[in-house]
Amino acid sequence: MTKIVKSDNLDEAAQCLKCGGTVIFPTETVYGLGADALNEDAVKKIYAAKGRPSDNPLIVHIADTDNLLKIVKTVPPDAQKLIDAFWPGPLTMIFKKCDAVPRIVTANLDTVAVRFPSNKTAQNLIKKSGVFVAAPSANLSGSPSPTVFKHVCDDMMGRVDFIIDGGECSVGIESTVLDVSQEEFKILRPGYVTFDDIRKYTDRIKSDYVDIKGVKTPKCPGMKYTHYSPKADVFVVMGKEGGCKKYIDSVLENKNKRIGVLSYKNTKYENADYVIDAGDDMKNYAYVLYEALREFDENGIDVIYAQLEDESGIGVAVKNRIFKSAGYKIIKV
Ligand code: TXA
Ligand code: MG
Repeated sequence: MTKIVKSDNLDEAAQCLKCGGTVIFPTETVYGLGADALNEDAVKKIYAAKGRPSDNPLIVHIADTDNLLKIVKTVPPDAQKLIDAFWPGPLTMIFKKCDAVPRIVTANLDTVAVRFPSNKTAQNLIKKSGVFVAAPSANLSGSPSPTVFKHVCDDMMGRVDFIIDGGECSVGIESTVLDVSQEEFKILRPGYVTFDDIRKYTDRIKSDYVDIKGVKTPKCPGMKYTHYSPKADVFVVMGKEGGCKKYIDSVLENKNKRIGVLSYKNTKYENADYVIDAGDDMKNYAYVLYEALREFDENGIDVIYAQLEDESGIGVAVKNRIFKSAGYKIIKV
């Protein structure tokens, strides 16, 4: 049975983590499904609860940097600069791992992903538990990550020991994943912390993440799986407002299915069955995206058209997530 608790009542959930149980907790990005990272049996429960393939490694969450060297071999000086600048916050870094980290956490890689979330509930839970907390996003494998409490319950009731109700996640998409284990630092998954943000602190990063279908990223094994997909079929319509409106309106005129539109900058789609506006900038788009994809499903939408502009900064991360949700069905206008 799954027990639900509020953010100000964490003792039992922390105890559960310490004893090898599973706890879903809010972070600033998306909800995470946590277990003791150094306890193999506990980590197995994560993969089972999500239905996640075990060749997709997990992020280890910490709430202070004191014991970092218990799980990572070294912290390169430029990575330390990034720690000072961005932790706690939505930046995950990949380091060479210590033997203490079981291979089930890292899917047999000799590196480990580490993140120090800024969400206070996450920090309190981790501190109280006294363990390193391995945690993927708390969705069933393949579904959009949950960013609100209700969506966590939809996927995970009965599959974990505890769910902490922490309201809404402020960022809305998963953390930036940056590999700092090699000479050249590389973004493996774009996120809220952008290439330009990182570049201010180190020149060991040379280029931004590029989203190209079919390009394999062997260093980030999880990226090869279908991700972030609602039940509805998703198409991305990419371009300026006028072009997107013209294209989507023409689809709506001839529709024979229930069509939802994820609009941008409040573009109007009078003939759509359901419209959700993603707001005026990419930060807001990120915040809205996953909740919106699930809301379309809840409202019986068959096909979603997502209006998108090609933007840099956090736009790179939004584009990456929508492209994946759409299985790369992209219409450029
Ligand atoms: O914002 C987030 O990062 C959320 C919250 C809960 O912290 N977590 C999250 O976890 O998104 P997950 O498991 O859904 O995504 C982790 C990503 C995967 O793409 C995985 O392949 C990559 O990080 N990853 C983990 N360890 C890695 C490693 N050692 N080397 C390369 N990629 C790694
Ligand atoms: Mg995930």
